[in-house]
Amino acid sequence: MGLFSQKGGETLFRNEDALDLEFVPKLLPYRELQQKRAAACIRPLLEGRPGRNALVHGPPGVGKTAAIKWVLRELEDTTDDVEMVYINCWQKNTTFKIFEEICQQLGYKFTQNKRTEELFEVIKNIVNKKAGVFVFDEVDKVEDHDFLYSILEELYKKAVFLVTNYKEWLEDIDERIRSRMTPEIIEFRSYSKEEVSGILKHRAELALIPGALTDDALNAMTSYAFEAKDIRVGMFLFREAALASEYANSKRILFEHANVAITKAKEFVIRKPDDLGDDTKQILDVVKKNSGSKIGDLFRLYKEVGGFGTYKTFQRKIDRLERGGFVTANKIIGGAEGTTTIVDIATKEKPTTLDRF
Ligand SMILES: Nc1ncnc2c1ncn2[C@@H]1O[C@H](COP(=O)(O)OP(=O)(O)OP(=O)(O)O)[C@@H](O)[C@H]1O
Ligand SMILES: [Mg+2]
Repeated sequence: MGLFSQKGGETLFRNEDALDLEFVPKLLPYRELQQKRAAACIRPLLEGRPGRNALVHGPPGVGKTAAIKWVLRELEDTTDDVEMVYINCWQKNTTFKIFEEICQQLGYKFTQNKRTEELFEVIKNIVNKKAGVFVFDEVDKVEDHDFLYSILEELYKKAVFLVTNYKEWLEDIDERIRSRMTPEIIEFRSYSKEEVSGILKHRAELALIPGALTDDALNAMTSYAFEAKDIRVGMFLFREAALASEYANSKRILFEHANVAITKAKEFVIRKPDDLGDDTKQILDVVKKNSGSKIGDLFRLYKEVGGFGTYKTFQRKIDRLERGGFVTANKIIGGAEGTTTIVDIATKEKPTTLDRF
């Protein structure tokens, strides 16, 4: 019997999708102002004029990605005259990869064997016939900035959104780019305790049958998520607590179920690549550059770039990176060289441990 099996036709869930971290509520509560400001940057494009650019910043887990995606979805429902591109720069971190991805998103599939400039020509041809909105999420993860220069300089009607945890990021960028960017600054502050509570309650209304979330459980989860300053922690707790209560065959999420979830949350401390230790970051970097290699080869490469840990520690850190959703590790049993593990960089956007749940 699975955790989600319906017991006697009774289930806590009304819409299980609403517990999914990828789920974006139709209207993102508490972020109306930011969404309006983002929309204002885009609106001129609908009237055939150039749009405005924006630097969207704020700490992790405060709804930046969700809010911007919501704006894009609204735009998609409103018009066919504006091309929309959303890129996560943790995944696509070079100008070449970014252009390749933009081409794909614009519906141009023949990107193979094309050089960076050729890819940009394709983008230019498509976007300059209409207008374009470009969102570069986690933009601080890019390794070069040429793509920005090209987009800002050679596309006529566009709105470029740079999303980051660090508002200083832009200050260190080439002046030629900064002067062309002249962004609006859209700030996302941390949620207040009331807002955290409101968000969880709202999710409960979407996901669960009425009355399923007790106040005691809500308050316990709210306090913990508020302290963590990341609403993802709240989502994680909520999901875990709901599962714990289903597992216990309870019709409501009680304080004790919230507590089970909180205990679990404490076990997972990795948050973002930036929160990893230097050594682990270095290991992640080696994996990134040599994705798909055997663990033994990765260890050798790690040593070559000055890694100081033992093989055992290395394995343990790979394991931790896997649990954090940064890499995937697959054991190949009985290959030509006996059992080995192949390590890949995780392809799906999974910036936090908590997203795995
Ligand atoms: N106001 C809100 N109401 C409902 N859900 C929200 C709200 N804000 C954030 N969420 C949800 O919380 C999760 C984290 O939000 P999001 O991914 O947008 O954070 P972020 O600010 O982009 O963080 P990061 O800097 O780590 O990328 C998502 O699942 C999102 O749907
Ligand atoms: Mg984000």
